[in-house]
Amino acid sequence: PKITFIENDGTEHVVEAEVGLSVMEAAVRNMVPGIDADCGGACACATCHVYVDEAWRDKTGKPEAMEESMLDFAYEPKENSRLSCQITVSEALDGLVVRLPEFQG
Ligand code: FES
Repeated sequence: PKITFIENDGTEHVVEAEVGLSVMEAAVRNMVPGIDADCGGACACATCHVYVDEAWRDKTGKPEAMEESMLDFAYEPKENSRLSCQITVSEALDGLVVRLPEFQG
């Protein structure tokens, strides 16, 4: 599945992600800048924060309670904020678009 990451300055990175990886891992493996992922995917750092494109919010679903509370530590969390290590890549997410915040953490 293809995932598009859009940096805060508008730079787009389209990556071919592997099913079963997290969206964070897909970004890191493809050297998309702007995802720090300090905790390595444990839902404990909030530096893999992304904004999910409105059209994709149903498919990516809502954050679980632990993710929700970590998002309070993210830079400028919004309604469509998610921690990208908590979104699993699947065929259903082919075409997913997420935007990166100006800063992480
Ligand atoms: Fe740390 Fe996602 S990588 S919360």
